[in-house]
Amino acid sequence: MKLTNRLLKIASLVSENKRLADIGTDHGYIPVYLLNEGKINFAILADINKGPLENARSEVKRNKLEDKVDLRLGSGIEVLKKGEVDEVIIAGMGGILIGELLEANKEVAHSVDKLILQPMQAQEELRQYLLNNGYEILDECLEKEDFRIYEIIVAKYTGKNTHLEDNIYYEIGKKLIENKDELLVEFVENKIKKYNNIISKLGNKDTEAVIAKRNLANERIEKLKELI
Ligand SMILES: C[S@@+](CC[C@H](N)C(=O)[O-])C[C@H]1O[C@@H](n2cnc3c(N)ncnc32)[C@H](O)[C@@H]1O
Repeated sequence: MKLTNRLLKIASLVSENKRLADIGTDHGYIPVYLLNEGKINFAILADINKGPLENARSEVKRNKLEDKVDLRLGSGIEVLKKGEVDEVIIAGMGGILIGELLEANKEVAHSVDKLILQPMQAQEELRQYLLNNGYEILDECLEKEDFRIYEIIVAKYTGKNTHLEDNIYYEIGKKLIENKDELLVEFVENKIKKYNNIISKLGNKDTEAVIAKRNLANERIEKLKELI
């Protein structure tokens, strides 16, 4: 089993010797890799679907790690009890779903040391959910795999709500800018292209809705340009 760049990056964010839960584990590659490396000694592998959980079970068995894992069928972090794990990975799902999963078991979401989240879409909505609901974004990074740039967010509940002064920082995480992430320029340039595509698709129509969308896209482009 060889981990892809995305999975390796997520694995690198897990702290040594911490008890880990991988939610929506599917193949179980991340916890199996971390257990094989000896970076962690215990993991809960969970998935809402039987097929993926069986994939994880096979991977665990093939690597003779049965005594170091617990496999659980169920939704999100509802399968966890407070105090069972220190860190939680939720990767490869939409940002809105990730927020809903955190909301569904706040006792656990609020108690863990670290949430390692890798939304596939709605990253902006996830940042907004986290910051407006008492989570601090501890770190962020980007990882490229097969021409796509993935966003990975590390968060922890502190109870302090944050409302950012500019919406652009929900779209481009502040930590990515602070860290001068090496993929930041490419990432922002892709966003600018996306907004330019939106503008060209809107064409020359001058309805109120089109004008508003065009203005919003132009405003975003200007802000994005200021970031790089
Ligand atoms: C695209 S796979 C991602 C697998 C792996 N985490 C990764 O990043 O490569 C999404 C997995 O999440 C699982 N899933 C979807 N909704 C879920 C939920 N509410 N709770 C737990 N697992 C869920 C799916 O069954 C699937 O195995």
